[in-house]
Amino acid sequence: MTSREIRQKFLDHFARHGHTIVPSAPMVIKDDPTLMFTNAGMNQFKDLFLGNAPIMHQRIADTQKCLRVSGKHNDLEEVGIDTYHHTMFEMLGNWSFGDYFKKEAIQWAWELLVDEYKINKDDIYVTYFGGDEKDKLPADSETRDLWKRFMPEERILPFSRKDNFWEMGDTGPCGPCTEIHVDVRTPEEKKVKSGRDLVNNDHPQVIEIWNNVFMQFERKADGSLVELPARHVDTGMGFERLCMVLQGKRSNYDTDVFQPLIQAIAKISGKAYAGTAQEKSDIAMRVIADHLRAISFAIADGQLPGNTGAGYVIRRILRRAVRYGYSFLSMNDPFMNELVPVLVEEMGTQFPELKKQQAIIASVIAEEEKAFLRTLEQGIKRFQALAMDAGVVGTAVIPGAKAFELFDTYGFPIDLTELLAREIKLGVDMHGF
Ligand code: SER
Repeated sequence: MTSREIRQKFLDHFARHGHTIVPSAPMVIKDDPTLMFTNAGMNQFKDLFLGNAPIMHQRIADTQKCLRVSGKHNDLEEVGIDTYHHTMFEMLGNWSFGDYFKKEAIQWAWELLVDEYKINKDDIYVTYFGGDEKDKLPADSETRDLWKRFMPEERILPFSRKDNFWEMGDTGPCGPCTEIHVDVRTPEEKKVKSGRDLVNNDHPQVIEIWNNVFMQFERKADGSLVELPARHVDTGMGFERLCMVLQGKRSNYDTDVFQPLIQAIAKISGKAYAGTAQEKSDIAMRVIADHLRAISFAIADGQLPGNTGAGYVIRRILRRAVRYGYSFLSMNDPFMNELVPVLVEEMGTQFPELKKQQAIIASVIAEEEKAFLRTLEQGIKRFQALAMDAGVVGTAVIPGAKAFELFDTYGFPIDLTELLAREIKLGVDMHGF
């Protein structure tokens, strides 16, 4: 099944169950001081959950552009190193606003995964909220019992608030959740260790694909929980991970969501993508493919790279990609802007804003690349001299004043100095920053 078919099947399934299909909200948020970017499909519905806006449709489904690079949900440093985290990703979601609740949500999730997508049901594990003393909440035994209709009890696992009580941020709507995990390891691997022991253990082939949240509370600034006026369902499925499972791959980057970009990067850089976990050139290609999507969608939504706030987040993502290209693929000239047509070809139908803004996206990226490559070249040379000094004098620490000078005088980002130092096991004296 191609990624386009997978997306469409999700939307068709929920349309059949009475959901109105809506377009993705922008990824860049301009009117919520608690969030810079959409980090979950439910963000655009926050006021509906809280009872602050009228409910027009009680059932909605969509695919939402999300970015998790700041605040409570931040995956940036994982991206490219592992095979299943992303900055920008699509979240497939279905919502009930004061309409159906746990029973239907669980049943329709199961039917989609097993009957429509044909995931082997023995590969599925689910989790439920095990209760929390501090919040005085009991275990969600209702959810556990609903799952028992579909699967044996040994694959239904309780977890604590950290994993099974979803909150949008420090404040806002929240509630217990049930997560669906899939074990895509080989039969041999499964014999050695049960998938049950690998759920929520950062195993790249035993991963969460779908979270179903049962919105019941609002977390107030003083930490207390207040019951919402009605009960809602908020689900989010990681589209790229789902594609990995359905296309029989072991990495999101091996699916047709990322391969066209990765192959284009391989062609431009003259290096093959081997798909290894450790090879720096493979990591670099994953970083670039991922980050190009994040930056392009942000620009399409009107967020240009800049020196503060959301603009700086975008600039940092772009610079992380340029730095990986420079260091590990020998890309010393701007190249990311040349990848924009490949992205538009793959995603421009579902997200027409990309196609519409294609020229501006490419030119903004090209300008940023040019400026940062100049800074990088000079900064990396200076950093290497500092690193030599630190090694020679035996301190194994780059003095803070020198790191600051790199930043202040030469525009070399502090986080990059720290990153480079970490890579060669040097410290940076951050005193005074
Ligand atoms: N809000 C939940 C999440 O982001 C489900 O959509 O995981």
